[in-house]
Amino acid sequence: MTQQRTQVGIVGSGPSGLLLAQLLDRAGIASVVLERRSRDYVLGRVRAGVLEQGAVAILREAGVAARLEREGLEHHGVEIAIGEQRYRIDFAEQAASLTVYGQTELTKDLLDARDARGASPIFDAADVAIEEVAGTRPRLRYRLAGAEHVLECDFIAGCDGFHGVSRTAIPPDVLRTHERVYPFGWLGVLADVPPVSPELIYLSHERGFALCSMRSATRSRCYLQCDLDTDVADWSDERFWDELETRLPAELAAHLTRGRTLEKSVTPLRSFVAEPLRYGRLFLAGDAAHIVPPTGAKGLNLAVRDVHQLAAALVAHYRERSDSLLDGYSAAGLRRIWRAERFSAWLTSVLHRFPGRTSFDRGMQLAELDQLVTSAAARAAFVEAYTGSQAEA
Ligand code: FAD
Ligand code: DHB
Repeated sequence: MTQQRTQVGIVGSGPSGLLLAQLLDRAGIASVVLERRSRDYVLGRVRAGVLEQGAVAILREAGVAARLEREGLEHHGVEIAIGEQRYRIDFAEQAASLTVYGQTELTKDLLDARDARGASPIFDAADVAIEEVAGTRPRLRYRLAGAEHVLECDFIAGCDGFHGVSRTAIPPDVLRTHERVYPFGWLGVLADVPPVSPELIYLSHERGFALCSMRSATRSRCYLQCDLDTDVADWSDERFWDELETRLPAELAAHLTRGRTLEKSVTPLRSFVAEPLRYGRLFLAGDAAHIVPPTGAKGLNLAVRDVHQLAAALVAHYRERSDSLLDGYSAAGLRRIWRAERFSAWLTSVLHRFPGRTSFDRGMQLAELDQLVTSAAARAAFVEAYTGSQAEA
């Protein structure tokens, strides 16, 4: 058995874990990141793609935004299509914008930054166990190629996503969870075809929700609402493009370019919040603490803001010997998180086709969407929530 010591032990090398390590490093705080999967697996995942201005500012502060600023696509509006009707919501009134940049690319930039500092995550770490977080000397135990290792830490950051182990280290009589599971998922594809339109389009259609997003001028990322038991094997590329074409307004469908898909996967939709975010010397961040349905594009942005807040609290602990930010981490984070949960659940509820819905339910959805596209106040509230222009760090 080998024994090692660090200041902050980080479980998980998704965007949360990698960015936390990077922010701490910039402040002279040592950390070690343990990742269950291989480097190739982590680099191969295709997920979110929309960054708020505030998240971009945090990535700039972390010194990992150079490529993002070169290659990311800045958007100043978004489109909502209700059947054949198209509406554009302009962010300009609030001087807001979003940057479209794939999570896959961000993960690569973060890993490159860790590698350049000689502080790469420990990949393929098996059976990670979190111990003694209620005391003053927490530790992480893990196995690497069969050998057992122990990492002594001052603090542990649980950045290991929804299916990680960190949350389970909080005793059941302390941990409270709040959850809504949706009766549908998203079937997503990535394809080297030009986007159907220069801006994102969220579609409310009789056959179900759809979203046309992108990664570049030549790469599209598109999603279709699907049943939870959807098997990607049943969805040929032709079937996917046919269904998307059906859900698009005719004038956009005419511009749809079809092509071979590079990736195809089904994501179930869920809203989930765990509290508290802190137990003793363990702090939860990102998907380990909360899940939003992807409709509002908030998952990645919340993760970035969580670890920014956690890094600031740890810096205050080490530099100023002040624990007030660590003590306030859970309450401040939860307030921000619940606001993003509200927006994501609301947007999901107005855009998707719910099984068993009545004509009254559809009338309500259409009235909500009508309010959104016709009322300046409703549009302003939407832009504020969607672009994160009011979110606190
Ligand atoms: P993750 O990215 O999940 O990273 C957690 C890391 O911890 C992983 O690398 C995992 O392998 C590792 N890990 C897990 N358990 C252990 C363990 N026991 N020991 C060590 N390491 C462990 N958001 C959007 O806004 N739009 C989208 O379209 C979208 N699509 C998504 C599709 C999928 C399939 C998923 C899962 C999420 C999607 N999200 C989307 C959400 C967004 O990607 C997440 O919010 C974001 O990845 C959160 O980052 P994270 O670092 O907290 O968690
Ligand atoms: C993307 C994903 C989302 O969930 C969303 O709301 C907008 C864009 C994307 O992958 O590009």
